[in-house]
Amino acid sequence: MSVILGVTSSIAAYKSLDLVSRLLKRGLDVEVIMSENATNFVSPEAFSALTKHKTSVLTFDKNINYDVKHISLAQKAEVFAIVPATANVIAKVAHGISDDMLTTTFLACDCPKIIAPAMNTKMYENPITKDNLKLCQKYGMKIIEPAVGHLACGDVGKGHLASLDDLEDAIVSELYPKPLAHKKIVVTAGATKEKIDPVRFITNYSSGKMGVSLARAAKYLGADVTLLINKDTNLVLPYGIKVAYFESVDDLFELSKANFEKADGFVMCAAVSDYKVKTYSDEKIKKGGELHLELEKTVDILEYLGKHKGNQKLCGFAMETARDDLKLARDKFKRKHCDLLVLNNLKEEGAGFRGDTNVVTLIDEKKDEKLPLGSKSELAFEIIRRLMGVE
Ligand code: CTP
Repeated sequence: MSVILGVTSSIAAYKSLDLVSRLLKRGLDVEVIMSENATNFVSPEAFSALTKHKTSVLTFDKNINYDVKHISLAQKAEVFAIVPATANVIAKVAHGISDDMLTTTFLACDCPKIIAPAMNTKMYENPITKDNLKLCQKYGMKIIEPAVGHLACGDVGKGHLASLDDLEDAIVSELYPKPLAHKKIVVTAGATKEKIDPVRFITNYSSGKMGVSLARAAKYLGADVTLLINKDTNLVLPYGIKVAYFESVDDLFELSKANFEKADGFVMCAAVSDYKVKTYSDEKIKKGGELHLELEKTVDILEYLGKHKGNQKLCGFAMETARDDLKLARDKFKRKHCDLLVLNNLKEEGAGFRGDTNVVTLIDEKKDEKLPLGSKSELAFEIIRRLMGVE
């Protein structure tokens, strides 16, 4: 798959080297086109060395083949991203000005386009730039908003290039077909925490990785995604989704109910505590003899949603350790009114909480199917596609 990266003259141009290497690691073919001024910040040879393609700068470069390079590049591109994009290049592409290799190829391209602005805050907030960005959006380009940060001019404000995680995510996402466009998918992820006293709590080993992979897969496939995740997560979350945070089972229950009605698909991947203390202690519990905590059952959120569902497709998970895991999981599938249930057995090699891989069996009304060991991100696509019935 082919990505063209346009690089223009901002101090953030050096970050594009890192972005290129991330995209290459994903197996993508990347070609770079620089504005002439950008070569004052980073040498075109640095990009060529990474991409193994000659970096283009001028329209009429005598060293290249006899094909019309800006047209052949434009035909090859599946995504065209300008990172970083200066106020100048934004003004040009908003108005169809094509006076160098970068802007000419951009205009000749009909693939998805991404603009990642990076500039001084005043330039970014200038109504002219704002209007130009709106025009870009009107023409279908996606804008990856800059962040607030320390700028090269010494100011602190909006204009700092978006994070490489977000840029990589936004570019890769454009390479996927969008069978879930206009569908709303909610994913819950991570561990709940039940407070015992001001310093202690009950939780579990869930990292949230499987849930975050599911949210990312749903987003890549075009869905409008809401992720409900534990407050203290330190995972990189997918770009362009809505996020709400929970701590306790009750928090997650409220958020789940609030987001369920409008959802087309709901994936209950969070590892929900089955018990909480009956009485929370306001003061730190002091050490003494034996300590007995009285626990009471928490609400079963998935079961509640199953009982109250309309047209939503509901996916549950089953975390088992027993040998007769399939029977236990099928019971859960029925009891919780799921459309799909994902069984993983903690005792299976490659499955479980904190790793990057999983081994799952997909259970639906008709059959159960064990999938081979796979990365959580690969499996996430399979789960979302099965749940929503898309290819
Ligand atoms: N779940 C839930 N609310 C709970 C407990 C679990 O919504 N209070 C959901 C989980 O998110 C998962 C599914 O129910 O999607 C099954 O969770 P699991 O822990 O495997 O099973 P439990 O129902 O808790 O039963 P057990 O602990 O006895 O296996």
